[in-house]
Amino acid sequence: MTAMQNVSLGAHYVVHLPEPDDFAFWRERARGLIQCDVPPDRVSWVEPGGTGDLFAQEGPSRGERRLPVPGRDARPVRASKRFMSLARNAALHSDLERFSLLYRLLWRLQSNSRCMEDKADPDVRRIEELDKSVRRDSHKMHAFVRFREVQRGDGAEHYVAWFEPDHHIVRVNAGFFMRRFANMSWSILTPRGCLHWDGKTMRESGPARREDAPSGDPVEALWKSYYSSIFNPARLKVGAMLAEMPKKYWKNMPEAELIPELIAGAQARESGMVAAGAREERQRPQSLDAIAQGLVTCRDCPIAECGTRSVMGEGAVGASFMIVGEQPGDHEDEQGKPFVGPAGQLLDEYLSQVGIDRSQAYATNAVKHFKFTWKGKRRLHQSPTAKEIDTCRWWLEAERAVVKPRVVLALGASAARGLLGKTVSIARARGKPIELEDGSELWVTVHPSYLLRLDGPAREEQVAMFTDDLAAVKTRLAELAR
Ligand code: URA
Repeated sequence: MTAMQNVSLGAHYVVHLPEPDDFAFWRERARGLIQCDVPPDRVSWVEPGGTGDLFAQEGPSRGERRLPVPGRDARPVRASKRFMSLARNAALHSDLERFSLLYRLLWRLQSNSRCMEDKADPDVRRIEELDKSVRRDSHKMHAFVRFREVQRGDGAEHYVAWFEPDHHIVRVNAGFFMRRFANMSWSILTPRGCLHWDGKTMRESGPARREDAPSGDPVEALWKSYYSSIFNPARLKVGAMLAEMPKKYWKNMPEAELIPELIAGAQARESGMVAAGAREERQRPQSLDAIAQGLVTCRDCPIAECGTRSVMGEGAVGASFMIVGEQPGDHEDEQGKPFVGPAGQLLDEYLSQVGIDRSQAYATNAVKHFKFTWKGKRRLHQSPTAKEIDTCRWWLEAERAVVKPRVVLALGASAARGLLGKTVSIARARGKPIELEDGSELWVTVHPSYLLRLDGPAREEQVAMFTDDLAAVKTRLAELAR
């Protein structure tokens, strides 16, 4: 069959979208229609409720089953990256004409691959407007959702928020709220559909009414810490902020009392975000408490958006031995403490084998947030990039300056980079001390999670080398203590 054979000449096609935000569905149907050479004025796009298009309401609904099917020899459909990225957002707009606009642009791209570059073109301008307005709506949802606490039937705590989005952005923002409030049980009710998270699974339900949501005070502590942690001084534009959150409403918002302070501190924090060099202008925190507090609001690198919380080092000021890992893992992120998961337990086992008491050491990480990717419901560890390690180095240096260890042990290449500011080969660096700029000694070995991934003779060999490294550190600590 050729591309044209099953197209009825002059027919008008109606595509019924299953959901108003189903971009993937639109893309599939649009690709087929383009491959069958169906021009934009012969397609209507109708979203649930059937109000998508005047023609579709009034004209004969021919149903989707009549859509032509492209033949095997159909030519590929061309769509620029820019179009796809704008289209993905624009598809979430509440404008009923959006899918027709997207189809028209996709159609035009087939004969003019540069049509998206014409800034004066009305279709290009319109898709840009839709994209902007959807992004703005998502931003408002992130910033202004307010949870109220309710008691569930079983007595457990549950948090409910009411939000009225302008566009179909609820589903696309589910991941943001799931990551941000991973350990809470919550519902976000909206007139465009609801999200429900119980700490493990996300569920959706149909539209809600304002009366379905509890009134009363939002949970103050939650919002203060949430707001100060999403506050990005580099984006601070007081005028824009007032426009979005008019000052007269500030009094109703628990976090509003933080705003003057945040604005006042924004300049300093912004300069700190520009580059690692400029960050030196920031005053280095002088105590472990001050470091811990600073870390709560640190957003200097993108990992900070990933985990549940920052994980500060643990141990006493003046500990002569500091252990540095790569970054908190899943367990550490949940408990807010370093080395409490499987790699930490293995480390404890080998430390105690060579006679080092971990409770006397200060244990921390090169990077203070858990970087991961979702695999189903599991959070899979992802290594931090060199840039992320270098960005977080400022905090590690602050910890070293306060704790003042005489011996530092780097577990793995990320930890070594966090301490040296450059990448070293573990094979070459292990077994001998490297002098750090403050006179303390750096010893380097592998990360215990590397041992966890091995088995058989390879594991035995690596465990022997690891315990030899720990024993050398133990000897050195004893020498320095004399
Ligand atoms: N791995 C690390 O490097 N650090 C931890 O805190 C836990 C696992």
